Order: sequence, then structure tokens, then C-alpha cells
Amino acid sequence: MEHQQEETSIPHVLIFPLPLQSTSNSMLQLAELLCLADLKVTFINTNHNQQRLLRHTNVQSRFEQYPSFQFLTISDGLSEDHPRSAEQFGDIISSLQTMAEPFLKEMLSDVVEKPVTCVIADGLFYYAVDIGNEKGVPVITFDTISPSCLWVYLCLPKLIEAGVLPFKGNDLDALVTHIPAMEGLLRRRDLPHFCLLDDYKTDLNSQAVFKEIERIPKAHGLILNTFEDLEGPFLSCIRSYFPKTYAIGPLHLNLKTKLAVKATPPLSSSNSLWEEDHTSIKWLDVQSKGSVIYVSFGSLAVVSRNEILEFWHGLLNSKVKFLWVMRPNILKGGGSHDEFMKELVEGCKGIGYIVSWAPQKMVLAHQSIGGFLTHSGWNSTLESIIEGKPMICWPQYVDQRVTSRLVNEFWKVGLDMKDICDRYVVEKMVKDLMGTKKDEYKKTIEKLSELAIISVQEGGLSYNNLNCLIDDIKGLTRSTENGSVKM
Ligand code: UDX
Repeated sequence: MEHQQEETSIPHVLIFPLPLQSTSNSMLQLAELLCLADLKVTFINTNHNQQRLLRHTNVQSRFEQYPSFQFLTISDGLSEDHPRSAEQFGDIISSLQTMAEPFLKEMLSDVVEKPVTCVIADGLFYYAVDIGNEKGVPVITFDTISPSCLWVYLCLPKLIEAGVLPFKGNDLDALVTHIPAMEGLLRRRDLPHFCLLDDYKTDLNSQAVFKEIERIPKAHGLILNTFEDLEGPFLSCIRSYFPKTYAIGPLHLNLKTKLAVKATPPLSSSNSLWEEDHTSIKWLDVQSKGSVIYVSFGSLAVVSRNEILEFWHGLLNSKVKFLWVMRPNILKGGGSHDEFMKELVEGCKGIGYIVSWAPQKMVLAHQSIGGFLTHSGWNSTLESIIEGKPMICWPQYVDQRVTSRLVNEFWKVGLDMKDICDRYVVEKMVKDLMGTKKDEYKKTIEKLSELAIISVQEGGLSYNNLNCLIDDIKGLTRSTENGSVKM
């Protein structure tokens, strides 16, 4: 009887990630951290992603350690053969909304077997905040994009009010004003693409962002995957707007550190939706220290054949060894790339190694890796910082454009190749990153890496912020008698 009472008083957190590699990765890390704090966790995944996750990872056995954890799956409403790549991002968002709204309403009703105490939902699921508020269940928004970009988003209404947006003229290098803490730092070209459109209000991405920032103040709290020493000034600005902001990152380092202090050795923590090719590690094992540049454009970006060729020639001409991830769905416009890939693989023998998906965290931690040519996805950026690997940034969309500017101009740990795809520039930047600029960047990024490690250790700010978040959730324990929530 007593045990039953204890069971019902444990908060039950429903985690609802955007069904993408990067976001489900961050949310699974958070889920495990909450399980380690003895909270009940239900993780919602789309059927499509759940099957891929089960096929390519040990997620099932990993989470079996936590009896109070469960996966629940829903359909994303798309056909099995839908490509689900960045080019169809709008489809994913709108189709999922149709499926998720009724599902969430039912999950947050009082009559379910395990009443939900709190929802942690991706920032783009603005409707989760509305449903939670309607049902009296607090919703904590988790924005998995870079917090500095979130700060830019939060400033957009001010930019419009001040007449800065839409921008006048075509000077992409003009500095952007009215974004506190970023004055003199961001140029127009560093903003998400939709900010440059005259009719940005009709753009689907911009509409999603405006709904997202409107809901943040209506949420119970905000979780960000960053650490204070990395983004302190932007975090202060975000907190002036929304005080209950928990910076608890880098999440994978936070989790790794917590698991390391447990008596049992942690299971490997891959959340990959593709099969990881571990021959990449074997190939790295026989290369010399710091000699290889790792090339990956993340899980969503699509690239044209011409762009791939510019990178390929630039890399070969640099004479620097490279390990390159080319996802099976990397080609812009879709279609098979078998023949094309075969030629690339043949042509780089001895200097480059190409795989379709790599164990990225292991790759970046490898001593043979000296730098990272990246699309500046937020997870990739944090992973590179933690492993002390300087970057060349070739950003595509949303937060990547802001992040790459910060890598180059704010943290000074790499080069920004934004809006350029030219074999001579690639060659020069690779030579600079791995040669002339290597020591300067390495020293700076290793300092950031040390600060990241300190932040997740006992007494560190991310460590403390996570404890505050857990205490906050524990304080929200839902009373099962009348369905009310203490706030
Ligand atoms: C996207 C956006 O790019 C990013 O800007 C935004 O912050 C979140 O959504 P994605 O493009 O996938 O994410 O990039 P990123 O955030 O870097 O995430 C990619 C993840 O996949 C990383 O955790 C990385 O370790 C992993 N990965 C990538 C692999 O495990 N193997 C690979 O071969 C490539």
C-alpha cells in the first residue's frame, strides 16, 4: 500500500521530441538524465523513427535499466516511402501536428492509467503548450537549436517594430542592429534565410518560429542544451525575457559524466537512426595524430552533385586526409547516388575514406582527427567543442547560420565558409585549419572544452541547473485524487 502511494507520487514526464536525428538524440539524453533522477518518463517517438532506432542502436537494452521508462509510438501521418528530409520539413511538421494534437489531449486527460505531471516538448510544438495549459498540465519547452539563434528569434518582433525587418537593400554584409549582445557581430547573411525574404510572413518556417516564440512565455520553463561559459551573454538576454531557463548542456557530456560515477559501466550511448560504420574508426586508428579532417553535414542537409564535387576536389587538393560522411539521402532532389559515389570513393583512395554514417562522437574523440568540416548543426558544434576539434563551417539553414558566425567571430575556434562552395576556398581553409591556424584555434577550443567538463561536474552550473530542473519537476507532482497540479 505504502509502496503504491510512493509510486503515484513520482512525477511522470512525457517527452515529445521533433522526429529528427538531432532532436530525438538530445531528448533521449535528457530522458536518461531524468530516469537517473528516478522520475517516470514516457518518450513519444514516431513509428518510423522508433523502428530505425531499434534497428540501429541498443536503446532497448539501455533503457531496460530504468523500469519507470517507456516508449510510446505514434504515426507521423506520412507514407513509409516519404523521404522525410530537410526539403520536406514542412510536411513532417504539419502532418505530425494532425496526429499529435488528439494524442496529446488524450494523454493529458485525467483518466489515463499513469497521469502525466509535466510535458517536455520541442519548441516547434507550440500547440503542446496550448494543450497543456488547457488541461492544467505544465509544459516545459525544450529548444534543441542553438540558444544564440533562439535569442535572435526572440528579437525578431523588435526588429519588425523598429522597421529593420524586412531589410532594405541587398547588402548581405550589413550589420544587424536591435539584437542585444550581438551588436557588431551578426551580418544579415548570418540570420536564418527566412529573415532575408521580403514576404517572410508567408514563409512556413518563419510562421513556425513566430508561433514558437509566442508560446515560450506561456510555458512553465525552458530547457536549453548549452553551458553558461559558452553562451552566457545570450542566456542572460533570454532570461531577461523568460527567467525560468535551464541551461543544462552539453547534454551528452552531462549524461556521460553522471553514468561514469555509477558503479556499473555505461552502455554505449548511440541514438543513431542510420547504421554506424565502425570501419571508420579502424581507418582512423592507422592515421597519424591530428592528421585527418572529419567532414559531415549532419542528418538533414541535402547537397547538390556540384557542391559535393567542389568539396571533393578541394579536399583532395589540400592533401589533408579526410573521413567523409555521405548519407544515402544526401543528394539534393533525391535519387540514387550509387554510381556517383563509387567514382568518388575510387578517386580518393589513399587520402580519403567515405562512409554513409559514422559513430560521430567516437570519431571526434579520436586522436587522428585534427578538425571538423561541418554544417554547424548544434549537436555537431557542441560535440566538436567538447572534443577540442576546431571547425570549418558550411552552414545551410536556421540556427546553423548564426552558430557558424559565432564559431568564427565570437568563440574564435574555426572558420566560416558560409555561402561559398568553391574548391579553391575549400582547399585554402582546410590547409589553414589543419596548418597555420591550428595551434591558435586548438588552444581556444580546448579551453572551452575544459569549461564544458567543469560545468557538468558536481557544483558546475549545468550540473546545478539540471538539479534545479529536476526539483522543479518534482514540485509539480500531480495529485491523483483531484487531478490538480501544484505549481
Ligand atoms: C538539425 C540542424 O541541422 C541543427 O542546426 C539544429 O540545431 C537541429 O536540427 P542536424 O542537421 O542533424 O540537426 O545536425 P546536428 O544538430 O549536428 O545533429 C546531427 C547528429 O547526428 C549529431 O549528434 C551527430 O553526432 C550525429 N551524427 C551525424 C552521427 O552520429 N553520425 C554521422 O555520421 C553524422
